[in-house]
Amino acid sequence: MAGEGFSTMKIRRIVVTGGAGFLGSHLCDRLVEQGHDVICIDNFFTSQKINVARLLSRPNFELIRHDVTHPLWLEVDEIYNLACPAAPGHYQYNPIKTMKTSVMGAINVLGMAKRCNAKVLQASTSEVYGDPTVHPQPETYRGNVSPIGPRACYDEGKRAAETLFSDYHRKNHVKIRIARIFNTFGPRMHPFDGRVVSNFARQALAGEDLTIFGDGRQTRSFCYVDDLIEGLIRLMNAPDTVTGPVNLGNPKESSMLELAQTIIDLAGSKSKLVFRPLPADDPTQRQPDITLAKATLGWEPKVDPREGLARTVEWFRNIDLRHYRPPTPNF
Ligand SMILES: NC(=O)c1ccc[n+]([C@@H]2O[C@H](COP(=O)([O-])OP(=O)(O)OC[C@H]3O[C@@H](n4cnc5c(N)ncnc54)[C@H](O)[C@@H]3O)[C@@H](O)[C@H]2O)c1
Repeated sequence: MAGEGFSTMKIRRIVVTGGAGFLGSHLCDRLVEQGHDVICIDNFFTSQKINVARLLSRPNFELIRHDVTHPLWLEVDEIYNLACPAAPGHYQYNPIKTMKTSVMGAINVLGMAKRCNAKVLQASTSEVYGDPTVHPQPETYRGNVSPIGPRACYDEGKRAAETLFSDYHRKNHVKIRIARIFNTFGPRMHPFDGRVVSNFARQALAGEDLTIFGDGRQTRSFCYVDDLIEGLIRLMNAPDTVTGPVNLGNPKESSMLELAQTIIDLAGSKSKLVFRPLPADDPTQRQPDITLAKATLGWEPKVDPREGLARTVEWFRNIDLRHYRPPTPNF
């Protein structure tokens, strides 16, 4: 079975925190399809129930509204810790809460894993590399992060979570996995998350001008969601010696200008490009070195980025934007 690479298929009780979000909902889909007992935990800060609505009728799926900054006691075999706002506009909305979610969320899932001897995977990020001075970034690169800038609540929160995972592993022998996820896109990204793919897709489909920050020559690597989920599951199923961090992302780079043009083509749009100043601390280049993921997980992206973008633009074409709200103001 796909993603079951290292172990024989056996039904497991699996928690996915942030399971109603973009990546989390795709992960829940895959794990439910594989027959596991899946418990999705989410406070719906940046997601909508619609992302997991079709899973609610499945007997092996359960949804709990819960904030990971508070402890939760469950008996499980595996935990995927994805709960955290991921887009700059979302994580900067309440930066203190973002840091709490990363740090207290990590402590709470690690405590749960320690109690029931579960494996626990942390959804870390390429943001731990900050504005990198090494290109592409291998896992051994320690990063170039500002601890006081507007992105620090996210970058430093994720770095602290990696520290907690490593210490629980060293001191308490908790079975950990750390995935450093690079930019991922696909259906169910929040349409108003302000990330480049969702902005461009919305703008192109509405026939509006596409906003480029900076001169558009800065590059990003974009991984399609199905590939990323396969990587996460392979990492969880890898032998316990594979703790990570492991980079997961697509090394194929594209500039913002190329991306904008591809999305305009796929949307069949006549939109033009408009240029705005770069936000503070925005990295100019980021590209994963996935040598380790290839060697230890036999993983690399398979979906052609243009094909992934075509599926994404089609999803954006068919959604009703009125169902998607910005993060709730109560946090
Ligand atoms: N999408 C990417 O490109 C990317 C890249 C690197 C890392 N990641 C990481 O992957 C994870 C998922 O990202 P995503 O793109 O799906 O983002 P997302 O915002 O769609 O999903 C995050 C989910 O976590 C939930 N959440 C936030 N705070 C919570 C809290 N305190 N308690 C419970 N639930 C909470 C949100 O409601 C949402 O459902 C995040 O941890 C993110 O840092 C994502």
